[in-house]
Amino acid sequence: MAKVVDLIIIPRELHKSMAISIYNMKYITFKVNFFAIISIMGISTRVIGERAEIGLSIDAIKTGTRLPFDVYVKDKGILKQVFNKGTIYTNFAKDTLKAKGINEIYIHKTDQKALEIYKAKKESPKDSVLDNPVLFKNYSFVKDTHHQIDKSLMLPGTEVPFSIFLMNKFDQKTIIEATEQSPSVLPDIRLVEGDLVIKKSDIDLYEQYINSLFHASTATGVEKSKFKSVALRESSKILMKKLLDDPRSGEAIKQSQKAVNNMIDNILENKESIYDMLSLRNYDYYTYTHSVNVAVLAIGLAVELGLKRSEVENLGAGAMLHDIGKSTIPHEVLNKQGKLDNIEYRIIQNHVIEGEKIIKERKDIHEDSIIPLIQHHEKLTGKGYPHKLSGKDIKLFGRITAIADCYDALTTQRPYKPAFTPFYALQIIAKDTGDYDPELLRLFIKMLGKIK
Ligand SMILES: [Fe+2]
Ligand SMILES: [Fe+2]
Repeated sequence: MAKVVDLIIIPRELHKSMAISIYNMKYITFKVNFFAIISIMGISTRVIGERAEIGLSIDAIKTGTRLPFDVYVKDKGILKQVFNKGTIYTNFAKDTLKAKGINEIYIHKTDQKALEIYKAKKESPKDSVLDNPVLFKNYSFVKDTHHQIDKSLMLPGTEVPFSIFLMNKFDQKTIIEATEQSPSVLPDIRLVEGDLVIKKSDIDLYEQYINSLFHASTATGVEKSKFKSVALRESSKILMKKLLDDPRSGEAIKQSQKAVNNMIDNILENKESIYDMLSLRNYDYYTYTHSVNVAVLAIGLAVELGLKRSEVENLGAGAMLHDIGKSTIPHEVLNKQGKLDNIEYRIIQNHVIEGEKIIKERKDIHEDSIIPLIQHHEKLTGKGYPHKLSGKDIKLFGRITAIADCYDALTTQRPYKPAFTPFYALQIIAKDTGDYDPELLRLFIKMLGKIK
């Protein structure tokens, strides 16, 4: 049997539980722990325990600096996370808090040391790794040849027939070595820092693994439906990955429309499933994951708006394909970490026109499904691209997809930037003077608020 080759990234507090689970593995053959899945994929606001917090005046943090800790505020006595570690504390961030009547922020007591260091010194210089071409090339290659998988499904004690790699910032390492002939029993890798990826050639085996988990489970009710949503998200990501690799594949487009229908059924059955279908905790950006997130958010908003089923289907199908033109962008440009030069910027922007060409070749795509693709970067103020459309020229499907697209981009982490919390991302979108439809934005905020 193949074995674990590298586990040095496990956080200190997990050492104990790791040891237990590795020990138990000898006795477990195939056991599915649904409570473990649910606890890991739960999206509730991270709340730090009472008395485990340090209160600070909002003036104690200097604007223009990078936050070396997560920051919380108290809302009706409950601590809610407003900024992720790594976020730059801007004047806008400070004004946002003030406007909400918030004068005190909180950090976790375990971050006391980080607070002292922060107070004592000035902002450290930026990561020079962004400019390291060798590291970047390798990172870009691995990203292109691998597929990101869901950590919460990597249940300790189950057997996997594929190798698993860890991508953390620009580092990649093998953490599980396995093949179909020589599967490996999983230790607890669900909380490792970074994204888990598998080789593209192992995608089918990963899908089989998810199916076997689903069928082996004895869970019912809420747990089963949560798992169904996660499985749906994972299969949609796989479809999008295949489609971005081969954007003219009729079969993949058909499959993506089917996936959209399943998503709609799932949301109509239970609105809370929106969160389970979103990928929220990734360490990096993947176009296929982003496409699924945008489709889920756009469908959710359309349902909230009370659109007809056929309209929701057309919107969802278009939202899934909204960035299909990115398949034509060289990976070095798409994954570039540093500042883009003018030519690179234009190449990126051109994904809309390229996407339009791909989608218009197809006769089986409804004309309304083209709107999300061609209008998702347009802004009501006329400052968007590619056509600088404004006001009424931007249709409802374009307006919805623009909000979903921007929100997902802001709440997604990249190797060189932290994700904004949903709270802060919504503040950023909402502050934009007239770029987004205010009525839709209001509904969008309400929708996200309703689902915890
Ligand atoms: Fe785009
Ligand atoms: Fe996008």
